[in-house]
Amino acid sequence: MSLFLLYALNWFLVIILFIVLVLLVIWMVTGYRAKVPFVPVPNSILKDIYQLMKVREDSVVYDLGCGDGRVLFYISHFVPKARYIGIENVTFPLILAHLRAWWHRKITGTQIEILNQDFFKQDLSNATHIFTYLYPNVMDDLLPKLEKELKPGTKLVSVTFKFTLKQPSQEFDLKRSKYKLARKIYIYEF
Ligand SMILES: C[S@@+](CC[C@H](N)C(=O)[O-])C[C@H]1O[C@@H](n2cnc3c(N)ncnc32)[C@H](O)[C@@H]1O
Repeated sequence: MSLFLLYALNWFLVIILFIVLVLLVIWMVTGYRAKVPFVPVPNSILKDIYQLMKVREDSVVYDLGCGDGRVLFYISHFVPKARYIGIENVTFPLILAHLRAWWHRKITGTQIEILNQDFFKQDLSNATHIFTYLYPNVMDDLLPKLEKELKPGTKLVSVTFKFTLKQPSQEFDLKRSKYKLARKIYIYEF
């Protein structure tokens, strides 16, 4: 390899490292206030989530704390006619979700709504399906709101975390290694 190529490769790696560091700093700075950090569900369990959600064409699907929106984007490939609303209030994941929504609309023509909002302040009464990957204390704080607002029959699918005061109607062990995150899915009916 010529000296020039080695030199170019060196600079390329330095630039990549710099971009990664900048993203890391943005992630830390924008996320430090959040009660739940931006940790997206692993791509390998998206298929399980989709199969358990059972979204229909007339569904209204919310992801509370949608991160980069991957769950909604994944499901919408299979059920493009449903309505999808991701709610997120931290800058870094919001930017990612908006970029993905823009790209998704360009490629598929399907609109995924991304709201810059605290989900505790969002009216959820039109939901038919809710997805969560939060923390147990946040789930418990949400329960009174959900019980008051949701229509009977609304389904909530939660990765890893349960409500303390509500029993899931079903739970699924994803049979992932004990060293990995996101090993269980809980299903609730309201
Ligand atoms: C563990 S991540 C899950 C992201 C995404 N749902 C997924 O499964 O890939 C939780 C997300 O919830 C967001 N979040 C936490 N509290 C929130 C609130 N009150 N309103 C909106 N978003 C919130 C965090 O910023 C974070 O991006």
